[in-house]
Amino acid sequence: MSSNSNNKKRVLIIGGTGYLGQHLLQQLSNNNNTPIQQPFILAFTHHSTLPPQPLLEAIHSDCLTFPLDLQNVDGFHAISSTFGQPDVVVNCAALSAPSACEIDPATAMSVNVPSALVKWLLSFGNHNTLLIHLSTDHVYEGVKSFYKEEDETAPVNVYGKSKVKSEHFISANWSNFAILRSSIIYGPQTAAPVHKSLPVQWIDSLLAKGNEIDLFHDEFRCPVFIKDVVTIIQTITSRWIADGTHMQVILNVGGPDRLSRLQMAETVAAVRGYEPSLLKPVSASTINRGVKSPADISMDIKKLTQTLGFSPMRFEEGVKLTLADPTDITS
Ligand SMILES: NC(=O)c1ccc[n+]([C@@H]2O[C@H](COP(=O)([O-])OP(=O)(O)OC[C@H]3O[C@@H](n4cnc5c(N)ncnc54)[C@H](OP(=O)(O)O)[C@@H]3O)[C@@H](O)[C@H]2O)c1
Repeated sequence: MSSNSNNKKRVLIIGGTGYLGQHLLQQLSNNNNTPIQQPFILAFTHHSTLPPQPLLEAIHSDCLTFPLDLQNVDGFHAISSTFGQPDVVVNCAALSAPSACEIDPATAMSVNVPSALVKWLLSFGNHNTLLIHLSTDHVYEGVKSFYKEEDETAPVNVYGKSKVKSEHFISANWSNFAILRSSIIYGPQTAAPVHKSLPVQWIDSLLAKGNEIDLFHDEFRCPVFIKDVVTIIQTITSRWIADGTHMQVILNVGGPDRLSRLQMAETVAAVRGYEPSLLKPVSASTINRGVKSPADISMDIKKLTQTLGFSPMRFEEGVKLTLADPTDITS
C-alpha cells in the first residue's frame, strides 16, 4: 500500500465477486487512478471460490481480499486485524435468487440478514462506519404501481421477507446506514463472468438465433442500469466522507421506466432490429416458477433523484450501452 494510505478512506465490499460487487470494485479502483476522484483503500470479501483472476487483473490498484461467510463472525477477525475499521461497508452479498431462497429459507435468512456484520461493526465501539446495504423491490407486495419508500412492506416470497428483516435489523441496531431497494439490475457482463444469466444478454442471444420467447406482459419492474447503481453508491459514499453526518436513509433504486418483461424485450428487439413477432406475450399467472412473484413492484424514484441530485438513465439508453460494449462500462 502507498505511503499516503493513512489519508485515504477504507471501503470494504462484502460480496465483491458477485455482479454488483465486481462492477463496483472495478469503478472504485479506476477512481484510484484518477486525480479528481476520492482515492480509497479497497478490500473485498469472497465466499464460495477464491477471488477470480480476471477480477484481480481488472482492479488496477492494491486491494485486500478476505474469505467470509456472512452467516458467522469468524471471517471478520482477519479483516479487523489487517484492514481495521472501514469508513464504508457496501453489503452486496446475498442469496439473491428468489427461487434459491424459497428452497432454503433458513439459509436465506441467515445470509440476507447481516447480523454477524452488524455485530462486528458494533465491536468497534462507535457508529463511524457507513453501512450501505442492498435490499430489493421484492419488499413490496406488488398490488399497485410506483411504490414509495413509506408504503407498507408486504413481501410475497422468502427473498423479500429476508430483505425486510435485514432492513429492520439494520435500522434497529446501526445508526449510520443507507438501504437501497434495488429493482432488476442490468448491464454488461463482469470482469470474471457471473454464472447467472443477465437479462438483456439473455433476450439478445435468443432473438439473435431467431428463437421465439415467451415473456410476461403483466409483471412490472423498473430495471436500473448497473453503472447507475454504482454511481448511486459512490455518491452516497462521497457525501458521507465529505460531511461526516450519520445517515439513516432508505431509497428506491430503479430506472425511470415501468416495464413488463415483454416491454423490456421489445426494447432490445428495437435496438437490435430483430423481428418483434418473435416475442410472445404470456401471463405470469400461467407459469409455476416455484416461488411467488409480485405482479407490479414498480417504484417511485423521486426520493432518490431529490436526495442525490441524480437521475438514472432510460432503459433504452442502458440497453444500447449494454449491447454496444458488453464487457466494459468504465470508459
Ligand atoms: N442483480 C439484481 O438484479 C438485483 C436486484 C435487486 C436487488 N439485488 C441485491 O443486490 C445485491 C447484489 O446483487 P448481485 O446481483 O450482485 O448478487 P450476486 O451476483 O448473486 O452476488 C452475491 C454475492 O454474495 C456472496 N455470497 C453469497 N452467499 C454468501 C455468504 N454466505 N457469505 C458471504 N458472501 C456470500 C456471493 O459470493 P459467492 O458467489 O462466492 O457465494 C456473491 O459475491 C444483493 O443483495 C441482491 O439481493 C440485486
